[in-house]
Amino acid sequence: MKIDFATDAPDQLAVPALAVFAFDERPEENGTVSHLPAATRAELDELSQSGELTGRLYETTLIHRPAGLAARALLVVGAGKESKFNTAVLRRLAGAAVRYLRARSVHSVAWLLGPKTANPDSVQALAEGAVLADFDADTYRSERNSDKRIDEFRLATGGPAPTADARAAAERGRVIAEAQNFTRELVNEPSNRMTPEMLADRARKMAAEFGIDCQVLDENEIQRLRMGALWGVGQGSEAPPRLIVLRYNLSQGSTAPGSESSPVIALVGKGITFATGGISIKPAADMHEMKTDMAGGATMLGVMRAIAQLKPSARVMAVIPAAENMPSGKAYRPGDVLTSMSGKTIEVLNTDAEGRLALADAITYAKQQGAGVVIDAATLTGAVTIALGNGITGVFGWNKDWVNRVRSSAEAVGEKMWELPVDEDYRDLYKSSIADFANTGGRHGGAIIAAMFVGEFAGDTPWVHLDIAGTRWSNDEKPYLAKGPTGHPVRTLVHLLTHLS
Ligand code: BES
Ligand code: MN
Repeated sequence: MKIDFATDAPDQLAVPALAVFAFDERPEENGTVSHLPAATRAELDELSQSGELTGRLYETTLIHRPAGLAARALLVVGAGKESKFNTAVLRRLAGAAVRYLRARSVHSVAWLLGPKTANPDSVQALAEGAVLADFDADTYRSERNSDKRIDEFRLATGGPAPTADARAAAERGRVIAEAQNFTRELVNEPSNRMTPEMLADRARKMAAEFGIDCQVLDENEIQRLRMGALWGVGQGSEAPPRLIVLRYNLSQGSTAPGSESSPVIALVGKGITFATGGISIKPAADMHEMKTDMAGGATMLGVMRAIAQLKPSARVMAVIPAAENMPSGKAYRPGDVLTSMSGKTIEVLNTDAEGRLALADAITYAKQQGAGVVIDAATLTGAVTIALGNGITGVFGWNKDWVNRVRSSAEAVGEKMWELPVDEDYRDLYKSSIADFANTGGRHGGAIIAAMFVGEFAGDTPWVHLDIAGTRWSNDEKPYLAKGPTGHPVRTLVHLLTHLS
């Protein structure tokens, strides 16, 4: 999708569709509707009086050949309560406009900016909303929606030339949303087309395209480095594990720990390409959803793709332990004791609690490679979805400064997160009688136990854990977003890395 600016007066925009928004009280005159000529507003007034136009959130009203406008059609998107309006709402309004119009085979949209929405934050949100909305998880359908794509999203200033800041914001929005769509595409891939090696290959291609370093450790190197936990998870599969490492602003083999002011940030993403549960096999119902168990890894690939283009001054590595958790004659068993790369031993009480094992070795590797901060994202527990549902990511960590940085980035980009606690007393829950740790600790507080287990391997290194088991996928179609992979929390992490200091 091309995102550019138009500077014609609102009535002079000769476009297939002009989009504006209106709040729910007097929609014929508020929001960006207020910048339309009187003749157009009179037409909207009629629709408002008849009850067709209400300004209800995401309501879409299309008017062909609107009075007073050169545009072929006018789309009014409902913006709901003015008191609840913010950039997160604006992002979704742009998305709702795009999804409505593309379904009607419109390929070019002009979005009218008002004085309140011409600032860089709003422009970025609009660009993001438009690009995110133009995505469908339809790679494998003969009848794809690609012929319905919006080719051009024009931000109409109504007259003035866009500022350099506004232009940069539009570009930033496009880059970030395309990165998020890249993540969504990876998460959507079925596991026969997304083995650990195939994920590594996607990482290599992306890194080559955007000029960042990519190193892939194969099963021999994984064993040579004594990553017994990651190896244990992957050993039952015909598709061998990989450790995917990307570096931005860092050279390979540089293990110098980051200075206080600019620590090396490691993004560790769970990359289980299919999670059967292994010998502790999952029930058949919904097992297909476990193709998404590499969403944390895909998130980190999306984040790296974005920062490779946005070029923040941060030093960042992504470490993605990729493995397929399968039951087989070679698979690890309940009761097995694994020696992790850190030297700590782990008694496997449930082979389905594999994510934390893979993450343990990836975090140890990241620290060995000089990480001063670790942020992990993982579809780690069903328990987090019981606590927070599918719209809110669970955030955990001992280091409140870094937890709060992540939370405020999430807030800034409109991705919902909620902090869940970690607690010293709960460390007893994953004690083992024969090893340093057990990989499970009962059903109660499952998301916390999993998080704390992962945190053991970060040790004193500031660490934030994002449990995205609920937020990786949306089972329902939204007016502004297709059903399927969400790409959550790519925007949060990109915001964090581009707003350090
Ligand atoms: N990938 C699952 C967690 C998950 C569940 C993600 C539902 C998305 C939707 C993870 O590998 C897993 O199996 N976790 C277990 C841990 C348990 C055995 C301690 C779980 O949550 O049931
Ligand atoms: Mn599992």
